Amino acid sequence: MTKHKKYNAIITGLGMYFPDKVLDNAYFEKIVDTTDEWIRTRTGIVERRMLENGATSDLATKAAEDLLRSKNLSPEEIDVIIVATVTPDMFFPATACLVQENIGAKNAWGFDYSAACSGFLFAYHTGCALIESGRAKKVLVIGADKMTAITDYKNRNNCILFGDGAAVVLLEPTEDLNYGLQDSILRVDGSGREALYMKGGGSLYPSTHKTVDNNMHVIYQDGKAVFKVAVKGMADVSYEIMQKNNLNPEDIAYLVPHQANLRIIDATAERMGISKDKVMINIQKYGNTTAATIPSCLVEYYREGKIKKGDKIILSAFGAGYTWGASYLVWAID
Ligand code: UT7
Repeated sequence: MTKHKKYNAIITGLGMYFPDKVLDNAYFEKIVDTTDEWIRTRTGIVERRMLENGATSDLATKAAEDLLRSKNLSPEEIDVIIVATVTPDMFFPATACLVQENIGAKNAWGFDYSAACSGFLFAYHTGCALIESGRAKKVLVIGADKMTAITDYKNRNNCILFGDGAAVVLLEPTEDLNYGLQDSILRVDGSGREALYMKGGGSLYPSTHKTVDNNMHVIYQDGKAVFKVAVKGMADVSYEIMQKNNLNPEDIAYLVPHQANLRIIDATAERMGISKDKVMINIQKYGNTTAATIPSCLVEYYREGKIKKGDKIILSAFGAGYTWGASYLVWAID
């Protein structure tokens, strides 16, 4: 914990949005050479959602509106909007600007955060730093991705994995340092850049007929390579944050892992020595929604009354970059 800190950042509001259209495993059996059984046993996914009309800002806006409604909060009170995403509506302006206008947060500034599947974790840590420093009083941290926009529906290795969704938390300060974010361990390693990326459309390979012909505007993933480093990275960092904070498995109320593959989640929980009933999971309903996985788990479990004040929670993620890390927080609201 940083010394001389006056404030901690606590989560005081939550919201989410998933589009209605469901792509079930039977759908994929029709479009690629796969089976429901393979998808369930290798990934844990049963369904995912698809946004038919609109973009990531629409997902993020609806999630933010859900939060504002449920908190009865005026958008004018928001100081900062951070949108973690790898599927921004466009390169610029930032998706955060589009959300700001849509929700009427006229006193806010904001920015997008590109850390793929670790996006929410990194953005949450950053949002907390703004609160801890006293520079902001109300920060929206949104994880939102329209993964179907960059998914290759001819590639059976990938297309079964991803879905669309958004979820958001509101961060506010508390002077009681026993609550809120206690610690984070965050890492990046660019040597993993070619194991999971979108090849074209950036300044390296600007969009041309050639990049389209070469199918460079979709997710490329070396699944096996990423699986191996994800298992080790997520398990190691989750274990490390427990050790660093003198936490025993029985102290932890929940592990909230990024939802990429149930086998990676199980390996992480096993390494931490925590039982499956303490692991938040919604991968079966939504697949991998990149930045939306961790916050959507928090929203769903909170709304089901499963999280209580004082619960010690570990968030943990691994994604493209590579990016990975874990945060330890103490839940502050009933
Ligand atoms: O979220 C960011 C980080 N991303 C991740 O954490 C994802 C990490 N990777 C994974 O989750 C897994 O590697 C996958 C789910 C992508 C793939 O699972 P896997 O157990 O690693 O399978 P594999 O790639 O080793 O493939 C095993 C077999 C192959 O066939 P052969 O070569 O053994 O004949 C694949 O061609 O399964 C085949 N296969 C499929 N079969 C049926 C691959 N995709 C499919 C499919 N349906 N959809």
